[in-house]
Amino acid sequence: MRIGVATAGGDCPGLNAFIRAVVRRSEAAGNQVFGFTNGWEGVVSGEGRPLDHNDVRGILRIGGTMLGSSRYDPYVHGGGADDARSGLAAAGVDVLIVAGGDGTLATALRLSDEGVPIIGVPKTIDRDVPGTEGVIGYSTAVQIVTDTLDRLTTTAESHHRVLLVEVMGRRSGWIATAAGIAGGADHILIPEKSFEIDDVVKTIATRRERGRKHTIVVVAEGIELPADASPEEIKTDAFGFERIGGACHALAPLLEARSGVEARTTVLGYVQRGGNPNAEDRILATRFGVAAADLAASGKSGLMVALRSGTVVGAPLGDVMGDAMRVPEGLISVAETFYT
Ligand code: F6P
Repeated sequence: MRIGVATAGGDCPGLNAFIRAVVRRSEAAGNQVFGFTNGWEGVVSGEGRPLDHNDVRGILRIGGTMLGSSRYDPYVHGGGADDARSGLAAAGVDVLIVAGGDGTLATALRLSDEGVPIIGVPKTIDRDVPGTEGVIGYSTAVQIVTDTLDRLTTTAESHHRVLLVEVMGRRSGWIATAAGIAGGADHILIPEKSFEIDDVVKTIATRRERGRKHTIVVVAEGIELPADASPEEIKTDAFGFERIGGACHALAPLLEARSGVEARTTVLGYVQRGGNPNAEDRILATRFGVAAADLAASGKSGLMVALRSGTVVGAPLGDVMGDAMRVPEGLISVAETFYT
């Protein structure tokens, strides 16, 4: 059997560990692996190359993806299932394992419904994929943001500043909440919880009364801005998808005007997706890669690997259409304890 592997959508740390696991497990079972380059773009064109043990040596600890990735979508930019079928046939691939976020996995589901043999693997720093308690890349991103908050806190403290720190996550506040808790944020703004600028002003004022002159506010990029904010112009990427960002630049002037304290901004951006995966992501990516290779080897498709109650399972790909994983009220309440 020949198993195809691809990584699609935004990259994240742990993808190479996943590719390595697919190759090593498949080889051990007597199967061949073909790596498609640049996500769905490679799948529809059949571009890529066979991968063996030697090709994946030493990549466990390296960030990014050796196969490349892109935001290309066969339904938006190409001929849908027919293109995917001809790409797989050109590469002689029997079943495709694709790692992606909710968009990629929704595309995988649609292709699967049209008869393309596919197994999905959830990965995204955003942690918003339904149907799984774990995704490749999230843990490392939270660690990167936590480490950065530690650095920003010391300089904010020295200069008695309010610092707005914008983090990724699209329409979810997982990175902001988790890293905000771990990094001791004084206030966290996320899409899951509506807010007033005056809530943040109150936190700043309370802290100042207590002699704490600096305030770190973590801002998830996907928050809904207050009506009086001037958002940055909406931009799209090379594939026509909206580029989210700029929330903290829009909030800073409002906050300064109402609090009377200077507010500076830091947008963390792609640093959150770069560098080596941490141990947790290496382990999860390896478990997911092994599980996906086993499902493929047993002739199964239309499934995604998922973490449920600590166990990796093969779940219906359709589960990816469930409600997005939103930050639960209980965790938000934990974070709110420290908004003083
Ligand atoms: O989905 C992962 C993510 O990093 C989001 O947090 C962010 O909004 C987006 O991708 C950025 O995407 P791109 O790499 O296309 O700019």
